[in-house]
Amino acid sequence: MDRYLIKGGKPLYGEVEISGAKNAAVAIIPAALLVDGVCRLENVPRISDVSLLLNILEQMGATIRRVNRSTIDIDCSQARQTGVPSELMRKIRASYYLIGAALGRFGHAEVSMPGGCDLGARPIDQHIKGFNALGAKVEVEAGMVYAKAPDGLTGNAVYLDVVSVGATMNIMMAAVLAKGKTTIENAAREPHIVDLANFLNSMGADVRGAGTNVIRVYGTGQLTGGAYSIIPDQIEAGTYMAAVAAVGGEVLVKNVIPKHLECITSKLQEMGVTVKDLGEAVLVKRDGPLHRTNIKTMPYPGFPTDMQPQIGIALCLAQGTSIITESIWDNRYRYLDELKKMGVTVQVDGKTAVIEGVTGLTGAPVSCCDLRAGAALVIAGLAAQGETIVEQIHYIERGYEDLVEKMQGLGADIDYLLAPVEPDHTSNLRAIS
Ligand code: EPZ
Repeated sequence: MDRYLIKGGKPLYGEVEISGAKNAAVAIIPAALLVDGVCRLENVPRISDVSLLLNILEQMGATIRRVNRSTIDIDCSQARQTGVPSELMRKIRASYYLIGAALGRFGHAEVSMPGGCDLGARPIDQHIKGFNALGAKVEVEAGMVYAKAPDGLTGNAVYLDVVSVGATMNIMMAAVLAKGKTTIENAAREPHIVDLANFLNSMGADVRGAGTNVIRVYGTGQLTGGAYSIIPDQIEAGTYMAAVAAVGGEVLVKNVIPKHLECITSKLQEMGVTVKDLGEAVLVKRDGPLHRTNIKTMPYPGFPTDMQPQIGIALCLAQGTSIITESIWDNRYRYLDELKKMGVTVQVDGKTAVIEGVTGLTGAPVSCCDLRAGAALVIAGLAAQGETIVEQIHYIERGYEDLVEKMQGLGADIDYLLAPVEPDHTSNLRAIS
């Protein structure tokens, strides 16, 4: 597996351009299945989760045309719900969106249970509750989800037991072509949910209230295509902001929506980081000591769980003791075990992590266990004295476009370390035989 080699201790200076939002793109691309025509998507991030989903759509008969570096045309008018190789769908969490999209378009779906980062239990009972409410019969058997609505879907009221990003978006997708009105209560409010609703409406749907906890979907007969530009990635932007906090320096983070970053900005300002809102960019600066603070991850507009590992690194370098409460996932502290190799002092008890700030970190070989933990380990390597080798970087490349190149643009000493070529022992065997 390829790795990153990082020589840390250099503050970050310069400008970084944020790409399209991963968690919007991985919902909008499957949603193209609902459209009987061409969807032109702009600001699509070049990440492996997007490539995988485009590959899956092609296997279902869609035509994909790359217009330029970040613009893609998707035509699903000839797509069919065929058996997509389950090993492809099991690679990412977002494959579950194929259920809602295929159910909405074809009236049935056969999709493998999703994969994705190991953050603890990741059930889809709320997704299934929504599909049942719309009149679908859903069975889960041998790792596959079979959903059928032979008479089509009919709008209904759905009250989510938990605030779920995936369930909110999946039910929205299934509802846009259903007969009548669907109401999703206790809906998630993340920026990517608003982005999906805006995409669907630009294709001819009628979704109202996205971004609030009550979303109403008025079923329309057909979605006929159009163009849409994906919002900038709130979490990628936050990751670079947390990197400046941990490593020091001054960086202009461009192509952002500052409103989406408010929860991150306010926490960084509590820690002594300067963040200036410049309209479509934020200027982030840290040249003094970092102050401790407490973090509790919450659904949007609270502090995002997907920023927990990255801000955790900055807290490791803050003066004093900080407490993190991870209220969304059961198992999102594994990165701290890797950080202990770099000199971090932390105690984890269930959903709580108590971090004693240290004056510095020491580079070490570390291994990623999920996407955001991987980004956090890169930040730790950039802040540490000495060399850090980050392994299992495929996790990072699922969700961060050109991370190495963007960090190099900020003066970071980071580069790919290609896996050593294993000596070819078979030649000896051939010689023997
Ligand atoms: C999405 O995951 C994101 N992934 C995650 O980001 C993110 O951490 C999460 O939302 C929360 O913001 C994508 O968008 C592809 P949930 P999702 O449904 O949809 C429970 C990243 O790093 N729940 O909002 O799987 C669940 O167990 C990734 O980009 C149920 O109980 O998250 C969790 O405790 C990691 N039943 C809580 O709800 C369900 O049917 C929130 O989960 C669904 C969820």
